[in-house]
Amino acid sequence: MTQDELKKAAAHAALDHVVEGSIVGVGTGSTVNHFIDALAGMRDRIRGAVSSSEASTQRLRAHGIEVFDLNGIESLPVYVDGADEIDGGFAMIKGGGGALTREKIVAAVSERFVCICDASKKVEVLGRFPLPVEVIPMARSHVTRALRALGGEPRLREGFVTDNGNLILDVHGLSITDPVATETHINQIVGVVTNGLFAVRGADVLLLAAPGGVQRMD
Ligand code: 5RP
Repeated sequence: MTQDELKKAAAHAALDHVVEGSIVGVGTGSTVNHFIDALAGMRDRIRGAVSSSEASTQRLRAHGIEVFDLNGIESLPVYVDGADEIDGGFAMIKGGGGALTREKIVAAVSERFVCICDASKKVEVLGRFPLPVEVIPMARSHVTRALRALGGEPRLREGFVTDNGNLILDVHGLSITDPVATETHINQIVGVVTNGLFAVRGADVLLLAAPGGVQRMD
């Protein structure tokens, strides 16, 4: 099976976690695109979605799924999203697609985070995938220096602006043995909007697709 076929298998397995009649929290990325396409098959059985990016919003609307403003919603039963890496405690690195801040916001109001991944995303220690950090543009140099002081090697994601009008620094060379501490520490740097560690609020369920099938872990 190709990696894309595995992503699709994980995405389809997530349909079992969608609560009928509810508004579904929807992440961003190629795995989530498969989920959105699959969700279209049950659009008459959900109220709609809250989206974590302009790209997912467009795809949801193209399928005729109503997209709600998060500000009008107190709680979502389920949030479905991919990850760039996930460890054994279900802490994740996210933001390869640059949607980390909105993803973290939607996840924060969701009761259950269902992570959909192909098996290549499961790691022992987070950090081989460069950690994305969303930064206010005028703070770019300050945040770069602060991230270097932590032992990482931040690189500006060239030609990329987030949906929020900010920049992304991808931090290479980190070995993240305490994801909660690292997430909290980086978020204290003035000028950081948020970083791509999802450890304080990690996933609740992992649907991990391998050639032998989709394994559910929780
Ligand atoms: C986007 C994300 C994605 O969930 C992550 O990058 C995984 O993407 P893909 O499903 O394309 O492998 O965090 O900001």
